[in-house]
Amino acid sequence: MKDHFHLAWFLSQGYGPKTWRSAWPGSDSDLRRWMMPDLFIDLAKGLERGGFDYMIIEDSSMVPYTYKGSHDTYLKYAASTPKLDPAVLVSYLAPVTKHLGLVPTLSTSEYPPYLLARLVNTLDHVTEGRIGWNCVTSSNDGAAENYGHDAQRPHNERYDVADEFTDVVTRLWEAWEPDAVVLDRENHLFADGAKVHAINHEGKYFKVRGPLNAPRSPQGRVPICQAGGSPRGQAFAARWADTIITNAITVEAMKAFRAEVRRLAASYGRDPDSIKVLYLTYPIVDVTEEAARERRRLLAEEDGRHLDLNLSGLSRLTNIDFAQFDLDQPLPEGLTTNGHQSSLANWIGKTPRSLATGSRRQGFEVVGTPDSVASRMQDIVQETGGDGFLIFNTYFDRRYVMEICDGLVPELQRRGLTRKAYAHKLLRDNLLEF
Ligand SMILES: Cc1cc2nc3c(=O)[nH]c(=O)nc-3n(C[C@H](O)[C@H](O)[C@H](O)COP(=O)(O)O)c2cc1C
Repeated sequence: MKDHFHLAWFLSQGYGPKTWRSAWPGSDSDLRRWMMPDLFIDLAKGLERGGFDYMIIEDSSMVPYTYKGSHDTYLKYAASTPKLDPAVLVSYLAPVTKHLGLVPTLSTSEYPPYLLARLVNTLDHVTEGRIGWNCVTSSNDGAAENYGHDAQRPHNERYDVADEFTDVVTRLWEAWEPDAVVLDRENHLFADGAKVHAINHEGKYFKVRGPLNAPRSPQGRVPICQAGGSPRGQAFAARWADTIITNAITVEAMKAFRAEVRRLAASYGRDPDSIKVLYLTYPIVDVTEEAARERRRLLAEEDGRHLDLNLSGLSRLTNIDFAQFDLDQPLPEGLTTNGHQSSLANWIGKTPRSLATGSRRQGFEVVGTPDSVASRMQDIVQETGGDGFLIFNTYFDRRYVMEICDGLVPELQRRGLTRKAYAHKLLRDNLLEF
C-alpha cells in the first residue's frame, strides 16, 4: 500500500480564456484581459500552497475546423482556441513560485528538435530546475496545415518520429558535461572545449550536429511527461517519460494501463518505480454531498444545452466530423482515426449524445465533500497502486482553485496522503521523493 501520492494540475485547453462562461467569472478586466497571466498566477500559487508537483500547460497549434468543416463552433465557445504560447506563460509563473514544476506542451510534430531542446534548456536554467516537457505528437490535421503539410503523418509513424526527436533532444541536453563551464578568470577559460560534445546525429527524420549552444541546465535531462494511450503511444511513454498521464476512467482501466506501461518500461531496462503514473481526475467538491451533486447536475444540464460544443471537441481529437452521426445511434464498430486512437477506442459503441453529455471533462470524475473525495482518491491509489492524480477542470475559475487547493488538498494532507512541504528544489527530485 502506498502512503503518499503526487498531485499535478492539467491546464486543459492551455493558455486561453477560462472564466468567461463561469458563474464566477471574475472582474471585467479578468474577462477581457484573459491573455494577461493573473488568473494563472493565482492558480500556480494555489497549487504551490497545496504541494502540487507540477502544472502542465496544454497546447495545440491551430483554430480547429473539423466539426461541420467550419471553425465557427470552436470560436463561438472559445473551445481549444484561442491559445497563447505556453512557454511564454512559464516565464510569468516562474518568478511567483519557488517549487512548483512547470510543464509546457511542445509538439514533436511542430518544433525542430534543436529549437525545442534550446527552449526547454533555457527555461530549466531560469527556473533553476523546475521545468518539465509535455512531449506530444500532434493529432489534428489543422495543425499540420500550419506547418507545411496537408495532414498529420500516420499515427504510429508520428511516434517513430517522436522517438528519434526525443533521442536528439535528450542528447543535446547532455552535450555539455556537468563541469564544462570552468569560469576561470585568471586563465581566461570560460568553458572547457574537451567537455562539450557535438552529437553528430544523422537519422531517418533529423540531422543535427550540436552541441547545444548553452550549458547543461540544473536538471540536465528535463523530466518528460507523456500521455500516449494507444499501444504505440504507451510504448513511447514507457521508453521516455518520467511521468505518464492517462485518462483511464475505471479502476480496471487504470490498473491495466499502469501495469502495461510499467511492464514496457522494465523491458527497456528502466526501473518502473522511477515513472510516476497519474490519473486524470475531475473532482467536484462542496460543503455537503447534496451541494456537490447539485453542482454536477447543473453541469450536466449545461452540457445538454451545448451538445455542439462537446461534439466539436470529439471531432477535434479524432479528425472525424461528429456532425455526420445520428445523436442516438451507437458509433459504428469499424470507425478508425489517425488522431487520438485510445480515446476513440473508448467511445465506440456509445452514442454521440451520451459522449457529448459526459465527456466535457474526460477523465475520472469524483463528486462530494473534501472528506468523501479524499477517501475515494485514497481508495483508488490503494486499489490500483497508482502514483497520484492530474486534476483538471477545463473551465476553472478562482473559486474552483480554492475549492481544490484550500478545501480538498488540506484534507488529503491531514490524512497524510500528499506532501505538506516540498523536500527538494528540482522537479525531478520532487517526483522521485515517493
Ligand atoms: C491528460 C492528457 C493531456 C494531453 N495533453 C496534450 C496536449 O497538450 N497537446 C496535444 O497535442 N495532445 C495532448 N494529449 C494527447 C496525447 O499526447 C495523445 O495524443 C493522446 O492521449 C492519444 O494518444 P494515442 O494516439 O497514443 O492513443 C493529452 C492527453 C491526455 C490524456
